[in-house]
This record gives sequence, structure tokens and C-alpha cells, in this order.
Amino acid sequence: MSQEIWTAVERYFAQSLIAADPIQEETLRTNAGSGLPGIDVAPSEGKFLHLLAKIRGARRILEIGTLGGYSTIWLARALPADGSLVTLEVDPKHAEVAAANIGRAGFSSVVEIRLGAALESLANLAAEGAAPFDFVFIDADKPNNSGYLEGALRLSRPGTVIVVDNVVRDGEVVDAESGDARVQGVRRLFARMAGDARLDATALQTVGSKGYDGFALAVVR
Ligand code: SAH
Ligand code: DHB
Ligand code: MG
Repeated sequence: MSQEIWTAVERYFAQSLIAADPIQEETLRTNAGSGLPGIDVAPSEGKFLHLLAKIRGARRILEIGTLGGYSTIWLARALPADGSLVTLEVDPKHAEVAAANIGRAGFSSVVEIRLGAALESLANLAAEGAAPFDFVFIDADKPNNSGYLEGALRLSRPGTVIVVDNVVRDGEVVDAESGDARVQGVRRLFARMAGDARLDATALQTVGSKGYDGFALAVVR
């Protein structure tokens, strides 16, 4: 069992359960054409995030790590008409490509892209007294994961759902001695989650077109 079959099953699920999606197909084409790395969530994962946000009844969503806005658009689609989404991105080129994709998808007035280092943007949001978010998706630079969790918690309330991408990394997460700063970032995230009485959490491993990886899921008590 390996990559080829994981990709085939993912394609089968997507063909079965996800309606033809010319807008998101164009998003992925635009991202690739603009030279962005192909590290957007997979379509079935994007719809999974969309459904989680819907189940939560999210009206305010926070995303950390925009890239070209592929996951942003999936999440924005879960919002009610008066909902809003703030997404944090450090790379101006990524933010520019995302703005175009988000505009084409019809969410320019729903999504605010905040350009800058996400730890700073999180501190700014807190300082501005931003209303709490109902759903948070953490998917930026992995070494800062625990800092992002901390920042997200300051912008949360009871019932807020926090999802973190890429917590398995081909299984490297179990290597306590890993010299990879991204793996250590994920391990600090788990330590932080485990040690926080406000969080009720689990994690799931995934396979698919993006390889072997996984999501952490937490709810604020
Ligand atoms: N969520 C996107 C993928 C995000 S990829 C999707 O699934 O479609 C990770 C993104 O985080 C990249 O665009 C990268 O530029 C951004 N990033 C990396 N370090 C960051 C930082 N310190 N602050 C904010 N964004 C950062
Ligand atoms: C990386 C980041 C991601 O968000 C992802 O989904 C896959 C890989 C990375 O930085 O390598
Ligand atoms: Mg990711």
C-alpha cells in the first residue's frame, strides 16, 4: 500500500463526493502557474475543513498560512452571509495570488488577508480587541506551531475548534531526537495541547495525494 493507491482512492472519493469545482480548479492552476509550492490541502481535505467549520456553525474563521487561498476558499464557503475570515500570510507574493483567487471565488468582502509574520498579526489582533473566532486552521511554518496555538487560544472562546495541518510528516513526529525544526515544532504543539486544561484534543493520520500526514483537532472547553 503506498502513494499510488492513496492517490487513486482520494481521486475516487473526490469524484464521488465533491461536485465539479471550476473555481478551485482555477485556484490550483493559478497557484502552480505563479510558482507557488503545491502544498495546499487536497480537495477532500479542503472539503473536510469546510464541513468541520459548517458543523461548528462558524461565523468567524481564522487561518494561519494562506498560500494561494485554496483552503481559505473552502473555509469561506462554510460561512453564513454575514460571516468573516481573517487569514495570515508572510509572503507578499502568496498574498497577492491569494487575493486574486479569493476575489474570483467571490469572497473579497468576506476575507481579510493580513500580510506579515503570523505571530505579530496574532498579537495585533489581540491588541485590537478582535472578537473571538469560532474556527481556527493552523497551517503555516511548523516551528512556530505552539506559538500559533497560544495566539489562537487568546482569540478563542469556549467551543472554538482548532485544526492543525501536517502533524505527522511521514511519521517523523515520533522521533523525539529529530533534528528537523518542523518536527520539533509539531512535538512542542502536542506538548502544549496536552498541557492545556482548556483544550480537548485528538489527532488523526491521513494518506492521500499529499502523502502520509495528519491533522490535530482541538475544542476549547
Ligand atoms: N493553508 C494553505 C497552505 C499554506 S502553506 C492551503 O492549504 O491552501 C503555508 C503558508 O504559510 C505559506 O504560504 C507560507 O508563506 C506561510 N508562512 C510561512 N511562515 C509564515 C509566518 N511566519 N507567518 C505567516 N505565514 C507564514
Ligand atoms: C509543508 C507545509 C504545509 O502546510 C504542507 O501542507 C505540506 C508541507 C512544508 O512546509 O513542507
Ligand atoms: Mg499544510
